[in-house]
Amino acid sequence: MNSIEDYVRAIPKAELHLHIEGTLEPEMVFDLARKHGITLRYPSVEALREAYRFSDLQSFLDVYYAGAQVLRDESDFHALTAAYLHRAHADGVVHVEVFFDPQTHTARGVPFHAVLGGIRRALTDTGRALGITHRLILCFLRHLSADDAMQTLEQALPHADAITAVGLDSSEAGHPPTKFASVFERARNEGFLTVAHAGEEGPPGYISEALDLLQVKRIDHGVRCEEDPDLVSRLARDRVPLTMCPLSNVKLRVFDRIQDHNLKRLLERGLCVTVNSDDPAYFGGYIAENYLAVYRALGLSRGDIAQLASNSIEASFLPAAAKDAWLEKIRALSDRT
Ligand code: HPA
Ligand code: ZN
Repeated sequence: MNSIEDYVRAIPKAELHLHIEGTLEPEMVFDLARKHGITLRYPSVEALREAYRFSDLQSFLDVYYAGAQVLRDESDFHALTAAYLHRAHADGVVHVEVFFDPQTHTARGVPFHAVLGGIRRALTDTGRALGITHRLILCFLRHLSADDAMQTLEQALPHADAITAVGLDSSEAGHPPTKFASVFERARNEGFLTVAHAGEEGPPGYISEALDLLQVKRIDHGVRCEEDPDLVSRLARDRVPLTMCPLSNVKLRVFDRIQDHNLKRLLERGLCVTVNSDDPAYFGGYIAENYLAVYRALGLSRGDIAQLASNSIEASFLPAAAKDAWLEKIRALSDRT
């Protein structure tokens, strides 16, 4: 029997919760700063990595938005995305649904088309070379106004063929889904699917609101659903996918220790739980490290790993035929081990 590390990396999986700006490694921060003549506050790559100690979501977001300032032109977004795809490929990712935050860039004068163009060119050329399919999800920053989100949606309309869904990220507490109900309604009317971060730091009521008002197809994180048993029953009954990110949750102190994570309990309860990396450059591991962390800390079986991978395919926006083909490959692989 092969090692668990090999098994986890070999199993075909979809990554459904990945902020492309969160794949910006310190080395690339320094390379791009040099390219653009930007002086960083940190003397070295090591010093920057040392600063990645967070007490909560906001303390991370402050560092994450500062890091993103080095992304200035189309080729920067291409390089960022291509580097991520190589890391993902090494971890057995066969399909990725990438979040991007246009407002982080357009607010400082980077054109929307440069952001989208660079990401898209890498997803198309590097993705094709590596055999990774993709979808793009435009996220609105929830700490900004609904008007700002609506303007961003309007900027995206000419590129609607390249963008599958819209989502909601950034500071959760105090910015409930209701704030964006009309933006999401417009997005759905324009043909976009919807997802939202909910129940990471915010209360379970935000998860229900995201489902009822924003009509989301998936909940990003969703770990606080457990505080509401009726909500857990609903999520199980409707197989609403939760895109969980275990290493992120520990780094941002949503759980004190990985051993405390509720992923296994919710998986056993029949929820469509998936494992993802969120912002891997900041949280200490790409997707395989997230699978391995919960495998080791929560005592999962190889069958659980196969279930998590199957859930990721089921929860993706791939067409049914592609899902069936990947599910069959996962079954064949798990039967052999
Ligand atoms: N939560 C909210 N916003 C984010 C995150 C997250 O985990 N990562 C990047 N933006
Ligand atoms: Zn996230």
